[in-house]
Amino acid sequence: MKVLVVGSGGREHAICWKLAQSPKVTELYCAPGNAGIAQAARCVDVKATDVDGMVNWARDNAMDFVVVAPDDPLALGMVDALEAAGIPAFGPRKNAAVIEASKAFSKELMKKHRIPTAKYETFTELDKALAYIEAQGAPIVVKADGLALGKGVVVAATVDEAKTAAREMMEDKKFGESGSTVVIEECMTGPEITVLAFADGEHVRPMVPSQDHKRACDGNKGPNTGGMGAIAPPPQYTPEVAKRCMEEIFQPTVAALKAEGRPFHGVIYFGLMLTPEGPKVVEYNARFGDPECQAVLSLLDGDLLDIFTACREGTLDQVDYRWKEQAACCLVLASGGYPLEYKKGYPISGLDEAGRSAVVFHAGTTEKDGQIVTNGGRVLGVTALGDTLEQAIANAYAAAKPISFPDMHFRTDIGHAF
Ligand code: AMP
Ligand code: GLY
Repeated sequence: MKVLVVGSGGREHAICWKLAQSPKVTELYCAPGNAGIAQAARCVDVKATDVDGMVNWARDNAMDFVVVAPDDPLALGMVDALEAAGIPAFGPRKNAAVIEASKAFSKELMKKHRIPTAKYETFTELDKALAYIEAQGAPIVVKADGLALGKGVVVAATVDEAKTAAREMMEDKKFGESGSTVVIEECMTGPEITVLAFADGEHVRPMVPSQDHKRACDGNKGPNTGGMGAIAPPPQYTPEVAKRCMEEIFQPTVAALKAEGRPFHGVIYFGLMLTPEGPKVVEYNARFGDPECQAVLSLLDGDLLDIFTACREGTLDQVDYRWKEQAACCLVLASGGYPLEYKKGYPISGLDEAGRSAVVFHAGTTEKDGQIVTNGGRVLGVTALGDTLEQAIANAYAAAKPISFPDMHFRTDIGHAF
């Protein structure tokens, strides 16, 4: 089969790496891809958000299957457009991808279907939002409704901080129109866990659980990023917690979306907090998380194309695959300054040596005059396995040692921060 993957980050590299292992995949393409993805797939020069361009390219080049990995094209309805053109596609349709694209929608869905999450109110008027913050007190969480690249969330320690955040979102439009509606919610406490789950509209099968490290610096300090590293599985996610999550969160979410006429086919990202009252949903995303995807897919023993096909066709209960009885650690090597300002175009050395003891997924790289150079905030995801979590963490750090580029930044406490 000829398969096209849409996207260009570490997540898409991990997906391409795994799909390339499927005997059914005869030709693999990625749009737009990056320098590392180019080792597993042929890169195609179409932007991930160019819905018409992607449909045209897939049709003209007779793709048998398209995997839409990032949130933006999903929210734009790329899967709907591909399917309408007769091209089978993996990922939720626009009406289901809304669980990520609108926080107000997903909070409403959880309330209606009694899925545990933080108590909240939604506001479109600043005065009312400010009065609510005053009445509730701090700590309190203020969120822009729409996609804001993970930056539209402020966990405010004081009432003043919360009010400033609400003003910036609603009045100053710091996140554009995505801040016209804000969700203000109760602050939860407890370890944060990611569970990615395959869903086929009806059935849901959670993958091995994982844990992201969102802050830029050691000790969970510094600004929020897309994720500085991931481990799988995290020790806090016990079999008892898993059972509760399945019964109280995963199955009810998939059933709720089906009942609402928005069957979810694809990967649901459950951002969970294990609070003293039990597991609760922090957020839903409509896709694999990154870097979680790199750690999780490294542990998959099975044919990813078969799983993707089953998600689309509603036969997820019938596919045979397993999770390795090992642990994984993905260490992100980032550009100095990320997630704020950083430079691009630095040559990267040591990739071949690192690749001998781990899989080095590329997140933000490109090729310039035959040399692989940095091209994004998150540059690489060095991903290693081990028989224990400690071993996987040690292996990832050891494998990353030979890699260097100017201003390289990484956390030294992945797997030890919580
Ligand atoms: P989100 O984009 O909704 O995932 O939020 C980003 C981060 O903010 C999460 O990963 C949490 O660490 C934090 N967060 C979001 N909502 C809450 C909440 N209700 N209580 C505590 N922390 C939260
Ligand atoms: N690592 C967090 C995310 O993908 O949203």
